[in-house]
Amino acid sequence: MKKLIGIKKFKIAIFISGNGSNLKKLIDHSLKRNSIFHINLIVSNNPKAKGLIFAKKFNIKKKVVYSSNINIFEKKIISILNKEKIDLICLAGFMAILSNNFIKKFKGKIINIHPSLLPKYKGLNTHQRVIDNKEKYSGCTVHYVNSKLDSGKIILQKKVRILKNDNKKSLGKRILKHEHILYPKALNKILSNF
Ligand code: GRF
Repeated sequence: MKKLIGIKKFKIAIFISGNGSNLKKLIDHSLKRNSIFHINLIVSNNPKAKGLIFAKKFNIKKKVVYSSNINIFEKKIISILNKEKIDLICLAGFMAILSNNFIKKFKGKIINIHPSLLPKYKGLNTHQRVIDNKEKYSGCTVHYVNSKLDSGKIILQKKVRILKNDNKKSLGKRILKHEHILYPKALNKILSNF
């Protein structure tokens, strides 16, 4: 925890690989006066991740490790996570699978957002699969990360109706808007019981 003008804030690291729109929303929430968390670190496994601009813009420490080998990536970030005394890791569009060792080390301290109503549609290309299967609803889920892909305990979920003319792009766009609301809510929910 970090003491900011007498208020203790949980220290958060956010892992990204791309646009970082969820990262941006979490930063916005962290900057609210009554926020119980602070974004201390942005980690990316992609040096071209657009979301990295928010590190500079909001003066947040960043660590970029470009390696297709997850063990090398993890080895290089563990020391900074410890140094920064990070309380919780939020995966936000982080496109790599963390090792079991890493997940064990940070047990109960890694959460993720996934653009489907888990346990349905784990993995990639969710919106297209949902449309192909003529589902009536999809949504988004914030969940704990465990050793099985997109299978950890669910923290919060939002159901979103699929419209008649939806394609993967329109559906993805609508769900992303709900993700931006759901992720900060879920973070607040678990941190209040931390
Ligand atoms: C989101 O749809 C998230 O659910 C998924 O990857 C996307 C990331 O978007 N895991 P962004 O980088 O936060 O804009």
